[in-house]
Amino acid sequence: MANEWATFGADLHLELRGPRLRAGLMDALREAVRSGRLAAGTRLPSSRSLAADLGMARNTVADAYAELVAEGWLTARQGSGTRVAARAEPRPPARPSPASSPALSLPRPAPPTHNLKAGTPDLASFPRAEWLTAYRRALTAAPNEAFGYGDPRGRIELRGALADYLARARGVHARPERIVVCAGFVHGLMLIGQVLRNRGVREVAVESYGLGLHTGLLTGAGLGTPVLPYDERGTRVEELSWPGPVGAVLMTAAHQFPLGGALPPDRRSAVVDWARASGGFVLEDDYDGEFRYDRQPVGALQGLDPERVVYFGTASKSLAPGLRLAWMVLPESLAGEVAATKGAVDWSSGAPDQLAFAEFLRSGAYDRHVRAMRLRYRRRRDQLVTAVAAHSPDTRVSGIAAGLHAVLALPPGTEQAVLRSAAWHGLAVQGVNQFRRPTVPATLDGLVVGYATPTDSAWQGALRSLCRVLP
Ligand SMILES: Cc1ncc(COP(=O)(O)O)c(C=O)c1O
Repeated sequence: MANEWATFGADLHLELRGPRLRAGLMDALREAVRSGRLAAGTRLPSSRSLAADLGMARNTVADAYAELVAEGWLTARQGSGTRVAARAEPRPPARPSPASSPALSLPRPAPPTHNLKAGTPDLASFPRAEWLTAYRRALTAAPNEAFGYGDPRGRIELRGALADYLARARGVHARPERIVVCAGFVHGLMLIGQVLRNRGVREVAVESYGLGLHTGLLTGAGLGTPVLPYDERGTRVEELSWPGPVGAVLMTAAHQFPLGGALPPDRRSAVVDWARASGGFVLEDDYDGEFRYDRQPVGALQGLDPERVVYFGTASKSLAPGLRLAWMVLPESLAGEVAATKGAVDWSSGAPDQLAFAEFLRSGAYDRHVRAMRLRYRRRRDQLVTAVAAHSPDTRVSGIAAGLHAVLALPPGTEQAVLRSAAWHGLAVQGVNQFRRPTVPATLDGLVVGYATPTDSAWQGALRSLCRVLP
């Protein structure tokens, strides 16, 4: 029975907060007994196993148990472990919330206080005033036809501004007529998936680690997603062969998501050579290309062959995902079909936002914002590296100094325990294995730490919380 034995820390539903770990654990246990969640007679986990689950020293748990025995909340008897004491006064019965089923009312970790999940920039830094200025200017200057249905590729003002910006900042060969504005990378990938499938492509190869959302979009378009193997130098693109069913390969070449490496030059050439030889395409997801901290960003792969690489960029990391603004730079052979497919489904991004973004780019506000965010994220990454080195000599920050997330390589076999401990400490963070494709063997243990996600005021607390759960 659930109230007989609480084997794991995860069954205890303890809300642990603050640096006073022993006092915090005692408060949490008292509260669990007082509220009836831990019934009289319930056997508690051994101090060793609770300490492992909570990421604490065993002595801390043993001391907390001993004090609670002394206070009369718990009993400890040789051979029967530590149990909740039978108390004289009646306790209010535990009241399950009306919405919870019996299974859901089982103890669970508290909702997270700190968020270090990768995927979002610091939303508090969205440049509201500068965006408003750009919006006002853009709307004032907009011709009346801008409020009509327009071109499914997107506003020409934006495509022109993007072509200039991408050539300058990312080495992309872009002409406005080859650009299609879309509502996020996901929208662009969906459109490309549809076009490739209509052309008879059966498979799009993907990296060993990545977002399931993206492979899901490809499978939704009726495409298979074979996985390219990974080694210490990155994705083994030399495994691509032809002829065969693979018509394209989806890659995060500048900064592999989530593992964090940059594709080495010989493999960059090799994947483009494969596309040329096979008539296939490289789908280059350049999601955070502007953020490199140790050197100038490496130019986009697309520059090597604009007719074989589809370049995808997004404002989701540099500005905000809520804008839903992204862009594709297409080979000539795909541009018409992609625009037609987009037009047949939806026109997506609204004209006022596109005009505002065009003005934002042209006025230099985008460059200023990216520069400021680069400094801020670089500082956070440096603080993360220093804190990890000081608190956890067994943990290594891997990957290049780039982007909005870092991978902390953990000692083998420890990822699950660290994630459990993080949950108990109110820290939302993901493990690398949550991004591993199902057919790829588990060989890495690590955390994917999104250091851009917290606001400035929450960052130091999130970092301290992270250090507490590292081995
Ligand atoms: C690997 C990767 N690609 C692309 C994106 C951007 O997606 P979208 O433009 O749809 O917001 C993200 C955002 O989290 C990402 O992690």
